[in-house]
Amino acid sequence: MAQDLNRPASDRLTWRGVVEEYRSFLPVDEKTPVVTLGEGRTPLIYASELSKEKSCQVYLKYEGANPTGSFKDRGMTMAISKAAESGSQTVVCASTGNTSASAAAYAAKAGMTCAVLIPEGYIALGKLAQALVYGAKVMQIRGNFDQALQIVRELGENSDKVTVVNSINPYRIEGQKTGAFEIVDGLGRVPDFHFIPVGNAGNITAYWKGYKEYFNAGISSGLPKMMGFQAAGSAPIVLGHVVENPDTVATAIRIGNPASWDNAVAAKNESGGLIDSVEDSEILAAYRFLASRESVFCEPASAASVAGLLRTDIPKGSTVVCVLTGHGLKDPDVAISQITVPDAVDATYEAISKELGV
Ligand code: F0G
Repeated sequence: MAQDLNRPASDRLTWRGVVEEYRSFLPVDEKTPVVTLGEGRTPLIYASELSKEKSCQVYLKYEGANPTGSFKDRGMTMAISKAAESGSQTVVCASTGNTSASAAAYAAKAGMTCAVLIPEGYIALGKLAQALVYGAKVMQIRGNFDQALQIVRELGENSDKVTVVNSINPYRIEGQKTGAFEIVDGLGRVPDFHFIPVGNAGNITAYWKGYKEYFNAGISSGLPKMMGFQAAGSAPIVLGHVVENPDTVATAIRIGNPASWDNAVAAKNESGGLIDSVEDSEILAAYRFLASRESVFCEPASAASVAGLLRTDIPKGSTVVCVLTGHGLKDPDVAISQITVPDAVDATYEAISKELGV
């Protein structure tokens, strides 16, 4: 029998990626060629220091542990698999960085061409490096994410040759909702509160959809309050109007006109939750707290969820999940800006023991 080189020789892989693991909840069938990098099954880390701080049980869903270092991989495995099913050869996206890295990786895996539009000067170095090394055609535009997304929408509308893989592609939301399934599976219950950063608002939309689907299927017996946080300089949903020139240290969520705005508001309203903003100083304080006290290194945008938790009153004893959307190494410039790089020391035993004081 001929060997199928698209499939592993062993059927003993314990985790097959989110599409296979949650197949019955996803719009795939036997005709869908599943393009996976083994995404999902990310750690749900008990945060002992935050738990003490808030007198709650706080868990961190660490999405930085996905193959390209962010939650985008959950949606991208679906979007690229469905693009492959439809015969698409080229995918395109606008991105603040993580979507482009993920799209580039999954497109390369599928043998597709990937084009990405990113805002010049406002994308973290790790993400730019990833998109380029995975082999995407990267176009830096003299404009922001919102302008890039507008162009990508037009490309999608005017050409049937390209598939848009931003979260306006419904398959992205389908894949990303598996994050909610994993949280419920991992905790054995629904959290009381779900804290999450909000940029283009696809992820809050996806988590809420996932929680509702598990509830409706009778797998879980409740729903969390959805607590979304934007950066204060990029907080259109909080302000109730488009922000023309969004600004924040958390470049991943530097977005002034979110595509899934209405869905984010619906998630907040239906769940009895909140969409609020956090200052850059609070984001950076949470970022440092997470690394130094919880040993979890995330990127600045991710820390917006924890910054939100730190500023919000919630009942003692609540079960809380904060989603940490991306890995800290994505944005080395912000990391370096938050610390003092030590001077070099002589390469001698004496110099080092003096430095250590031993
Ligand atoms: N956190 C990180 C690390 C992100 O990269 C993003 C979005 C978000 C949070 C917000 O998620 O947009 O679903 O509300 N990044 C997109 C990108 C916009 O292009 O990589 P959202």
